Amino acid sequence: MIFVTGASGTNGRPLVERLRARGVALRLLTRDAKKLDALRGAGVEVVSGDLAEPASYAAALRGCERAFLLSAVSQRIAEQEGAFATAAAQAGVRQVVKFSANGADPKSPYALGRMHGQAEAAVAASGIAWCALRPTFFQQNLLWAAGSIKKDGTFRNNLGDARAAHVDVRDLAAVAAAILTAPIAAHAGKVYELRGPEALTFAEIATLFTQVVGKPVRYVNLTDAEYAAGMVRAGLPEWLATAIAELAAVARDGSAARLNDHVRTLGGKEPTTVAAFLAEHRAALVG
Ligand SMILES: NC(=O)c1ccc[n+]([C@@H]2O[C@H](COP(=O)([O-])OP(=O)(O)OC[C@H]3O[C@@H](n4cnc5c(N)ncnc54)[C@H](OP(=O)(O)O)[C@@H]3O)[C@@H](O)[C@H]2O)c1
Repeated sequence: MIFVTGASGTNGRPLVERLRARGVALRLLTRDAKKLDALRGAGVEVVSGDLAEPASYAAALRGCERAFLLSAVSQRIAEQEGAFATAAAQAGVRQVVKFSANGADPKSPYALGRMHGQAEAAVAASGIAWCALRPTFFQQNLLWAAGSIKKDGTFRNNLGDARAAHVDVRDLAAVAAAILTAPIAAHAGKVYELRGPEALTFAEIATLFTQVVGKPVRYVNLTDAEYAAGMVRAGLPEWLATAIAELAAVARDGSAARLNDHVRTLGGKEPTTVAAFLAEHRAALVG
């Protein structure tokens, strides 16, 4: 039995699909069980609970051999994930696969890197066998540009001419599912940077958008402050908008452009190219 947090989200859904296809018994955590009703059935249980309240899920960890730990971005990731790993160890869970982020480091100069770095340290401190998945930017984020592409053929971000190897969350799910079904010792203490197959600039991605939608799409570079202000106008809290804008530093320092073969060797699949991803999602980008 595998306990899955974040099961209703962008990464959780394809992971659940992969694990179900392997016939693994699952226990899915959500704050809103209605979201996962359709998944209930043979081998899949849904439990209501909140990572912010360990008492809400601690009993449900009993009987699970492994856990996938994904938190939504929050200022309490380290505290919540440390508490989760401790509760998991006490319940007899033998492995936690922590969904982290590129550049996770307690001393990172940017907030999301620090939060995930501190969370990794908190999970490690629980003493449980664990490993970390550190993806770079998701290809799915590129669909956030659908509105401006339809409106005026632009695509706005703050990465300048830096390169980043955007990765498809379905490729992350393939890696996570493989690790969650492999011998636990094979991945204990390991950290995997997870990347797409090519490092592209946003100007190059704009060219791919152009080819897919069939009209010119232009990349407009924003300053970090302009990019953050746009997210605040769209309703994000200021700390989160600032933290997301800061992430451009990961691309500017070149670390988001490093490539590796983990999707193929661990996940057993060809990594998705940005061109293939955009072509598959054309319907969301036109109209
Ligand atoms: N976007 C990127 O490019 C990127 C890159 C690298 C790493 N990351 C990391 O990816 C993670 C986000 O992954 P995602 O995009 O798959 O998430 P998502 O789509 O935003 O979904 C968040 C999930 O977390 C669950 N959740 C939220 N608050 C919860 C709580 N208090 N207790 C229990 N569950 C809770 C939600 O479940 P319910 O609503 O059902 O409870 C939902 O399933 C973050 O840690 C982020 O730092 C993102």
